[in-house]
Amino acid sequence: MTKQANVMLDKRAVIGEIDERIYGSFIEHMGRAVYGGIFEPDHPEADEQGFRRDVISLISDLQVPIIRYPGGNMVSAYNWEDGVGPKSERPRRLELAWQVIETNQFGTNEFVDFANKVGSEVMMAINLGTRGIDAARNLVEYCNHPAGSYWSDKRREHGYEAAHNIKTWCLGNEMDGDWQIGQKTAVEYGRLAAESGKAMKQVDPSIELVTCGSSGSGMATFPEWEAVTLEHTYEIADYISLHQYFGNRDNDSQNYLASTMELEHFINTVTSVCDYLKAKKRSKKTMMLSFDEWNVWYHSNEDDKKLERWQTAPPQLEDRYNMEDALLVGGILITFLKHADRIKMACLAQLVNVIAPIVTENGGGSWKQTIYYPYMHASVYGRGTSLHTVATSPKFDTKDFTDVPYTDSAVVYNEEQEELTIFALNRHLEEDVLTHYSLQDFEGYEVHEHLVMSNPDLKAANSINGEKVKPVKASDYTFEGTTLQVKLAKASWNVVRLRRVEK
Ligand code: AHR
Repeated sequence: MTKQANVMLDKRAVIGEIDERIYGSFIEHMGRAVYGGIFEPDHPEADEQGFRRDVISLISDLQVPIIRYPGGNMVSAYNWEDGVGPKSERPRRLELAWQVIETNQFGTNEFVDFANKVGSEVMMAINLGTRGIDAARNLVEYCNHPAGSYWSDKRREHGYEAAHNIKTWCLGNEMDGDWQIGQKTAVEYGRLAAESGKAMKQVDPSIELVTCGSSGSGMATFPEWEAVTLEHTYEIADYISLHQYFGNRDNDSQNYLASTMELEHFINTVTSVCDYLKAKKRSKKTMMLSFDEWNVWYHSNEDDKKLERWQTAPPQLEDRYNMEDALLVGGILITFLKHADRIKMACLAQLVNVIAPIVTENGGGSWKQTIYYPYMHASVYGRGTSLHTVATSPKFDTKDFTDVPYTDSAVVYNEEQEELTIFALNRHLEEDVLTHYSLQDFEGYEVHEHLVMSNPDLKAANSINGEKVKPVKASDYTFEGTTLQVKLAKASWNVVRLRRVEK
């Protein structure tokens, strides 16, 4: 007998307004993300600034609202001054984090131009590894001060009369990690971040700051790192960062697809620590979360070990994603939507070539990996209000998790457009689930589209030669009265879009 699940919702039971920045992404100066990814002046598709038009088009279709830059690990030893001004004077540097040569032919101003072209805001990270307050306040002055000071006039000399007005700034990157240049203890980081943030906000009080949380929930110092650093940064910061990467290392796909359970636990723990600090400090401010690095990352690990050092833009972290990775990415996006009250920003790490939904060939074409699609669906259709769901689903156990629901759904209501979108995952590998959605507030709505991604081969992947994994239109549903029944096929990602129709 087919397994059954139920989902009830009420349009007054709102989790929160979805901040569109949860569909952000990330471009780090590493591998072929910048050079050969978004920027390749000799490419036949390059525009007058050297940006690849084909890549701009693929990114624009994703409607990425914000892009984090320039790192990542790279930022912890980055001198931002190297990447501005005449290109002929920019230094070639040993980039220690990824052991490559950084030519600095691309820098802050080029990135701001690129972000404008793809319609994204910039999330700028500062170096709190080898540098600190002075470099940080100068960069804010360079980017955001209108004119009449040393660094703002330098920007104008460099051809940028108008200030960039970058609103969102990360206070360093993963400063708890021993792989970080300039790793800090929680107290060292907390003090430095607080004082840097204070100076940055003195230059431009309108900016928002992200303080570094742990670089993953598996860190030995998690969640003490959050508790100690927030003692120092709670007042100055607006967000705390979370980072998490996943991988099917034991080739146990059922366990892998259950790993959003761990993500859920991570988010809840960080939220609790933030609220503890709020209570302790008698603060009126609620700390919001910026999940500014997340993705699947493991396919490329062995290849990366073989790379020679000190190359320029080698193929680093070039994971090739498959069907099951797309399912996990869908599950992660559902989890974020269910925490729309606290997660206000999130960045799929990364955007092009480096653990990315978009892949390019140097001098050649570009194509979409499997994970491109769930990310695009959420970004394009997931704008509005995230609704609570009361859900029942059959459950299973895996090696690491118990009581894992077969199905998971997030529901987005866009009142203005009179649209309701259901994102649904069936993570079970063997069984379909007939899911009943009670949509009593949505009389007069009709299903506009049911999109499904599935493939009997969980390892099926896309390439420059074609897409084995992509969404197709389906009609595995009935909608009678206010009950929508959708067959969520085993191991499938589903998007059901409903619209109000005039009768
Ligand atoms: O995104 C790849 C790397 O992962 C980033 O540079 C770092 O912040 C994280 O460890």
